Amino acid sequence: MRKVRTLGLLGTGVIGGGWAARALHFGIDVIAADVKPEMEEWIRGAVANAEPALARLTFAPLPPKGKLSFTTDLKVMAQAADFIQENIPEQLPLKQRMLAQVSLHAAPDVIIASSTSGLTPSDLQRDMVAPERFLVAHPFNPVYLLPLVELVGGDKTVPATIEAAAKFFTYIGMHALRVRREVPGHLTDRLQEAIWREILHMVNDGVATTGELDESIIYGPGLRWAAMGTNLIYHLAGGETGMRHMLAQFGPALKWPWTKLEAPELTEELIDRMVKGTQEQAAGRSIRELERLRDDYLVAIQQVLRQFDIGAGSTLRALEARLYEDAAVGKEGAAAGARGVPLPRYDTVVRPEWVDYNGHMSDFLYGHVFGQAMDALYRSVGLDEAYRKKGRVFYTVESHVRHLGEAKVNEPLYVTTQVLALDEKRFHMFHRLYRARDNTLIATGEQMHLHVDTAAAKATPMDQGLRTKLEALRKAHAALPVPEEAGKPVGSRGS
Ligand SMILES: NC(=O)c1ccc[n+]([C@@H]2O[C@H](COP(=O)([O-])OP(=O)(O)OC[C@H]3O[C@@H](n4cnc5c(N)ncnc54)[C@H](O)[C@@H]3O)[C@@H](O)[C@H]2O)c1
Repeated sequence: MRKVRTLGLLGTGVIGGGWAARALHFGIDVIAADVKPEMEEWIRGAVANAEPALARLTFAPLPPKGKLSFTTDLKVMAQAADFIQENIPEQLPLKQRMLAQVSLHAAPDVIIASSTSGLTPSDLQRDMVAPERFLVAHPFNPVYLLPLVELVGGDKTVPATIEAAAKFFTYIGMHALRVRREVPGHLTDRLQEAIWREILHMVNDGVATTGELDESIIYGPGLRWAAMGTNLIYHLAGGETGMRHMLAQFGPALKWPWTKLEAPELTEELIDRMVKGTQEQAAGRSIRELERLRDDYLVAIQQVLRQFDIGAGSTLRALEARLYEDAAVGKEGAAAGARGVPLPRYDTVVRPEWVDYNGHMSDFLYGHVFGQAMDALYRSVGLDEAYRKKGRVFYTVESHVRHLGEAKVNEPLYVTTQVLALDEKRFHMFHRLYRARDNTLIATGEQMHLHVDTAAAKATPMDQGLRTKLEALRKAHAALPVPEEAGKPVGSRGS
């Protein structure tokens, strides 16, 4: 497959907007096509709304954002894109017709994917030119924060299409779940629909309100689903003998059964109950407000799962490893220091939760930013997850931050790092934090790091490979003047 520099979107509603936000954030250009010209404004708004939450997802260095363009001409989009994602309404004849048209104009090596929630790929690819490059790639709303994408091939899809698509989606931070066989609703919507059907029954029968049914999920199963799903959780529910005991205990109930299988008729009364119930739950909050709340907790949950290296947290870790690697390889991180010696550079943005009541970045977060800069630097010289898994890390044993200026919310910042000294266990460095808009130095940070064996709980020499790379950096920086402020005690500023 060709390298994806430009993602083409057909249909720019809720899902098209979500794809745009995700792709742009990770440096992919987007050309979006919709029959309605007014959707240009809409999609730009959707991208802007997604940005605050997306920006908080990771501290890893990001490439420059992609550029968004819009057209009402499907052909223009199809000819400009390296990968096309279709997101038009869920109607089979319409999708078949439009996919066939797109495939006429797109080069045959351009993969075409559909976001369909439940239509099968064999039906969708029926009239396409080069149908072997077609697949279903079913995302979840909000596409920019939920990593899952179900990949399903049809009769004419070749395995290389699925592989190449999986590679692209992984690149933009997603978890590509390959569905073995096409079935209506794929995997997740089939499961979601089963719950949804039972909800409709219980509301219809007056057993519970929409709010009570949501409580039945959010205080219990919902919490455990996020990391372990249903089956592994049931394995635990069976006690020492796991799933076998679970099936013996609850298997008979499957014969009764508890559930109803067929959905109830959507009568006006049932629709009213569903609408009234959810309006009560919203309690006057607008959709936008609820979306923001949802986005904020989705970011927070993924960051927690990241610590446990489980589920969506593992996906986030893999994305970060990729971003750090690319930043190191691309050397986009290098900033020109004095005498033309390049210094490692780390870029970030002042996040909304970093500012205090003055609207300025809080003092303790300067240290955090220097920590992130060091994380990026270490990863670039091979101190990665695998190295840390051996129980070998650097601890900060001394730190001195000087505050020279302010930074406001959402302001881009960057840090440059100068190596002052290095021996087999110690690493001494000096950071400068700049406000990107005017290149003003707003803080400096001096740190001493000690290489530690965490199992033995003592300082230990770093691995040779790491030492060699850090030594190369030290040598390069040896030509630089030692910063005047280095080594000065607190209170000596200006003396
Ligand atoms: N909404 C969800 O939660 C969700 C989740 C996953 C997948 N999906 C799937 O994504 C697809 C889109 O859903 P949505 O919720 O974004 O719908 P939507 O109604 O919000 O957006 C559809 C867009 O397609 C445009 N459109 C219609 N005909 C077109 C044409 N011929 N050419 C170009 N644009 C056209 C419309 O103007 C509209 O902007 C559906 O297949 C749906 O099943 C939706």
